[in-house]
Amino acid sequence: MRQLSQRAQAVRPSATLQVSQRARDLQASGVDVINLGLGQPDFPTPAPIKADAIRAIEANQVDGYTATAGILPLRQAVADRLAQTQNVQVTADQVVVTTGAKLALYALFQVLVNPGDEVLLPAPYWVSYAEQVKLAGGRPVEVAPTATLKVTPEQLAAAITPRTVAVVLNSPQNPSGVVYTPAELQALGEWAVQHDLWIIADEIYGELVYDQPTPIPSMLTLGGAIVDHTIVVNGVSKTYAMTGWRIGYAVGPQPIMTSLTQALSHMTGNPAAVSQVAALSALTGSQNPVALMKASFKERLDAIYPLLAALPGFRLPGKPAGAFYLFPDVQEAMALKQCTTTDQLVNRILEEAHVAVVAGEAFGLPGHLRISYATDKATLLTALDRLKKFMQA
Ligand SMILES: Cc1ncc(COP(=O)(O)O)c(C=O)c1O
Repeated sequence: MRQLSQRAQAVRPSATLQVSQRARDLQASGVDVINLGLGQPDFPTPAPIKADAIRAIEANQVDGYTATAGILPLRQAVADRLAQTQNVQVTADQVVVTTGAKLALYALFQVLVNPGDEVLLPAPYWVSYAEQVKLAGGRPVEVAPTATLKVTPEQLAAAITPRTVAVVLNSPQNPSGVVYTPAELQALGEWAVQHDLWIIADEIYGELVYDQPTPIPSMLTLGGAIVDHTIVVNGVSKTYAMTGWRIGYAVGPQPIMTSLTQALSHMTGNPAAVSQVAALSALTGSQNPVALMKASFKERLDAIYPLLAALPGFRLPGKPAGAFYLFPDVQEAMALKQCTTTDQLVNRILEEAHVAVVAGEAFGLPGHLRISYATDKATLLTALDRLKKFMQA
């Protein structure tokens, strides 16, 4: 039989989805596994959003194709929200709606990256960036972080080559919850502009920040040349508990958005019409459900952060400010448990403590674990108790 394409062979499966599958397999065999591996809110989509979607279905409003870049009211709603919350002016045709932020990123790499081009990925980084760059024929270049898990212009400068075309900045960051300050983003942005690089700013967790006003300042607030080089990626998945609806969007310079739309016209045609109506409802409706979900995430973070930081062999650079993940350094825990790889530790935690977490390798930073707190507080406390017993055994 013929071989699969080199592209297909080079792609690694998503580690976060793999861990969840292993957890589900164990659960199916009767083991009570707590899954802290998955990156999605545990809340239902707020009722008014669902009601608007149902109404649109019943009124036959979502039966046909839509414009590739999304329905105009939704594109306008994204622009309006940027104006209201960030004081940033963009037009609706600078907004392209996609089937999840994941597809916005995938399609952007298709549009911006030539074969052999390099994209800088400050580690730790979200699992899909590197694979998506490879699928575009590019080369992901990991940049090691500082102790605070943030990257600096000096570190990026050490990794740049004549083939570098873009840098991905993700704040709040998955997997660590680290949030860059506007001054830090400004310095990184100025550096990228100096080198004429595209800045892909993944701001999908921008509303999920717990001890400062939200949304945190977008890369688009930095103005001038930085904005000309920036494409922001965002979506409704995390903020509105809408991961299954699959709506994300990109905001950027008009020529890029035109090219992105052309590429998408051959990929999906358009994001699901009913999901676009739901996303419009989310962005324009009451934001109270978001405030409630956020309060709940904060309460969980406050409850488990000190417990996790106190586990033998677990170290945290500080309390994460956003998203819903903790990313402890577990190198000492690995030594205590005689594990040579983080994967071994993850397997033992799953088999012996019945808690599913993700190894840092998937995020370009071995020796760490990603622990999601998008689970109710009681379950989290049970999981922490299991981890404590595991480490003490
Ligand atoms: C950092 C980051 N970016 C993008 C995405 C993609 O989100 P979606 O495709 O659900 O909009 C995720 C989802 O896990 C993420 O964590």
